[in-house]
Amino acid sequence: MTKAIGIDAGGTLTKLAYENEFGELVLEHFPSNHLQAVTDWISNHPEIEEIGLTGGRAEQVKHLLKEVKSIHYIVEFEATLKGVRYQLIQHGHQFDRSIITNVGTGTSIHFMDGETHNRVGGTGIGGGTLVGLAALTTGIYDYHEIIKKAQYGERQEIDLLVQDIYQGMDTPIAGTLTASNFGKMGIDETKNHPIENILATVQGLVGEVITTLSIQLAEQNQVEHIIYIGTTLNENEALKKVIANYTILKKKTPIFLEDHGFSGAIGAFLNITVNQKS
Ligand SMILES: Nc1ncnc2c1ncn2[C@@H]1O[C@H](COP(=O)(O)OP(=O)(O)OP(=O)(O)O)[C@@H](O)[C@H]1O
Ligand SMILES: [Mg+2]
Repeated sequence: MTKAIGIDAGGTLTKLAYENEFGELVLEHFPSNHLQAVTDWISNHPEIEEIGLTGGRAEQVKHLLKEVKSIHYIVEFEATLKGVRYQLIQHGHQFDRSIITNVGTGTSIHFMDGETHNRVGGTGIGGGTLVGLAALTTGIYDYHEIIKKAQYGERQEIDLLVQDIYQGMDTPIAGTLTASNFGKMGIDETKNHPIENILATVQGLVGEVITTLSIQLAEQNQVEHIIYIGTTLNENEALKKVIANYTILKKKTPIFLEDHGFSGAIGAFLNITVNQKS
């Protein structure tokens, strides 16, 4: 059997998917600003003959590959859908229609209808925004440190809730919903806030924007499920909680896949192996 690998070269991270000697799927990622690490990895694995390539930085990876390998390019959204469909089967999910929200550096939103899909929306608010805003407000650039600290933070001293506006009155919508992310800062500017609280609030903003848009697109396309993927969700229970709570509140079903950052790489890998078999 020809040795193959799927590569999804994204704006921040380049993801690899391949099978080990036991036929198990192995997943790894490298920073996309150090693509040399990816090409070194490939040079160190001369048994790899076929490369399935996708993502916005696919062309850059292709240029860096010294040895000529057989490269199968696949459009990012096609690769993502293929990967997600495979992962859904692996996890025993039965549904066929869903919104897929890919929280990468930015966020891209798709409507999956069986084997077809459409890009139905997106926003520049994504994992890049989480790191970028966190870095600007606290000076912390490291993703792991950001999410670790964010999980201990509270948002209620920075975000303005609906009940904060409708003081003592009946609220027209749930009082605990955010009326204005960071809104209290414009009203009471004097307070100093712990770093953990600032980071939790940044995370809340990113999660709520992504979820609001996903819910609207789920309603427009009359689907119940919203699958959230992208490495931004990695080890990030606090962000998943923001997303899940709001999705459920709006009567939609949030789905998180294991290995949610790797759908594109898995799709690029399957694209070769399936073609080989047919
Ligand atoms: N080890 C890590 N290093 C950097 N960012 C990380 C790491 N782990 C998780 N992240 C988060 O994941 C985000 C990138 O997610 P992902 O890999 O899905 O995007 P991408 O594919 O690189 O970008 P895009 O699809 O928009 O081109 C980062 O912006 C950051 O918030
Ligand atoms: Mg991506």
